[in-house]
Amino acid sequence: MGNFLVTGGTGQIGGFLCEELVNAGHRVVCYDSKPNLENIGRIADRVTVEAADVTDTSDLLQVMKRNSIDHVVHLAAMVLLDSMKRPAKAYQVNIMGTNCVLEAARVMDVKKVVFASSVSVYGSLATRRPGIADEEDIPNPPPEPYSTTKIATELMGRYYRESYGMEVNCMRITAAWGPGRYWGYTGQFNDFIRKAAVGAEAAFPADFSYKGEKLRWMYVRDVGYCFAFVSGIPKTGGYLYNLGVDAPFNHRDVLQALGEVVPGGRFEAKELDSPTKVSAAIAGPNGLDVDCTKLHRELGFRPRFGLKAAVADMVAFERARAGIGRQ
Ligand SMILES: NC(=O)c1ccc[n+]([C@@H]2O[C@H](COP(=O)([O-])OP(=O)(O)OC[C@H]3O[C@@H](n4cnc5c(N)ncnc54)[C@H](O)[C@@H]3O)[C@@H](O)[C@H]2O)c1
Repeated sequence: MGNFLVTGGTGQIGGFLCEELVNAGHRVVCYDSKPNLENIGRIADRVTVEAADVTDTSDLLQVMKRNSIDHVVHLAAMVLLDSMKRPAKAYQVNIMGTNCVLEAARVMDVKKVVFASSVSVYGSLATRRPGIADEEDIPNPPPEPYSTTKIATELMGRYYRESYGMEVNCMRITAAWGPGRYWGYTGQFNDFIRKAAVGAEAAFPADFSYKGEKLRWMYVRDVGYCFAFVSGIPKTGGYLYNLGVDAPFNHRDVLQALGEVVPGGRFEAKELDSPTKVSAAIAGPNGLDVDCTKLHRELGFRPRFGLKAAVADMVAFERARAGIGRQ
């Protein structure tokens, strides 16, 4: 069994990853500058929480030494919209923070580091095959800070892997949807399902109801499971993997699944002919599909939830949270 350090461990993905890890018998330290204890409420007595910053190498080293850390999953970051609002802070946390984590991992000789990037690095142009981007494509985002920091960390991780022989994997996440975040860009999608689950009126967010949209977002429990799964592979052939579902879905599929799980629910969607101004301005797979087969093909990863099962799981989760049913 491993001793895991999970940076950003009380974030949306971190909470579900930590749950996955402790359930598999690992020891887990959540390293987070602003611990959101609600996201680890289910496992609060089974994890150690360290309220500390990834830009502080000394804190990282002390925590890693004290807990004999041998695996690191690095999720701490300023996400897309926050990075646009506070670019200087985003460069510091995302780039320097990642360097501190990699340095500390190198010095402590950990067995493996897995960290998060984003498909936002692709931008809207596929350089090899029209309309679909894979891991061999050259990143080409508009110059917004979040994607800039993610590209920098991807190159940094590759350097540590190739120069020091460290086992480092980088996961380019499409998006994680599900409980744990109800604000910001993808948070509006989660809020839509949450409202529908508890019987409130809900309108599908316009940012994702473009008729040509192909969402390869993965349910957050599966994203957590995926980080645990990749961490459990001692040596992978590849360094970088797109993390998303094999079969894309759109608002119609979500509404159909939701209709089956919440019959008579008060929700609706308006299909748009083109992306909204916000969607069009944000680097991401909007209008550009992302090939996620390498993760499944090469590493053998299979998500546990299909779309309908995931919707049902989130509905049950939100109902329990609202005191309507059991989780
Ligand atoms: N959720 C998604 O859809 C998505 C998509 C693409 C990439 N990612 C990446 O996955 C990772 C996790 O995303 P998430 O959605 O769980 O984010 P989140 O915002 O829910 O969690 C991030 C956590 O990091 C912590 N954190 C921020 N700055 C820190 C610092 N300086 N030191 C220590 N902790 C710090 C925050 O307190 C928070 O708990 C991030 O790297 C993000 O860029 C997420």
